Amino acid sequence: MVLPSVLNADFGDLGGELQRLTDAGARALHLDVMDGHFVPNLTFGMPIVEGLRRHTDLPLDVHLMISDPLRYAGPMVDAGADMLTFHVEAVDDPAAAAQSIADLGVAVGVAINPDASMDQLEPCLDHVDMVLIMSVQAGFGGQAFNPIALERLRSLRNQYPDLLLEADGGIKASNIADVRAAGCDCFVVGSAILKSDDYGKAIDELNDQIASANPSGANISPGQEATR
Ligand code: DX5
Ligand code: ZN
Repeated sequence: MVLPSVLNADFGDLGGELQRLTDAGARALHLDVMDGHFVPNLTFGMPIVEGLRRHTDLPLDVHLMISDPLRYAGPMVDAGADMLTFHVEAVDDPAAAAQSIADLGVAVGVAINPDASMDQLEPCLDHVDMVLIMSVQAGFGGQAFNPIALERLRSLRNQYPDLLLEADGGIKASNIADVRAAGCDCFVVGSAILKSDDYGKAIDELNDQIASANPSGANISPGQEATR
């Protein structure tokens, strides 16, 4: 599933953007919360999540790029988040953090930046619903996709066949099939949708590319024979 990130939306017309994304076939929204401390950028907090919640039934996947995720987890759930994803680098005890969020009654994701060691994830994998593999350093939209994410997705997919995997950053029509082939289930896409002239066309193209990929490893482009 493609989850549009509203990071590059027109925040002066968020209602219009929500309508356009819904009309374009979005089935969930990815909301990037940044605190200017965990990442060198600021976005929004509970009021925007709450405002979107009032106007849509789409699942809200809230990506917390903040230093103290547990402090804001409750308020984010009250604001209407359906899933909360915290960064493993931001907490001392990822398993306890995941459990505290799960206790709030929402789905839990754990995210990891490209420069963080994958060993950090291990203790919390039994306590999360999803792992978010960052394919850029968290903080800004419009960055280039880091292929380290493909290795990480493949490795997790091999070890944990049933674990829900999400990737975020630099994903577009030209690389989303590779991300799918590496075993990814949920694809966060910001600028490749929000900076396009036609959101519906952009989402359709991304979905076509996902459908063309072979999640077992070989990536088959439309009209092309599998070579592996
Ligand atoms: C980056 C955010 C992403 C971002 C993706 O820190 O977590 O969700 O919005 O945007 P693109 O697709 O433009 O990289
Ligand atoms: Zn994100």
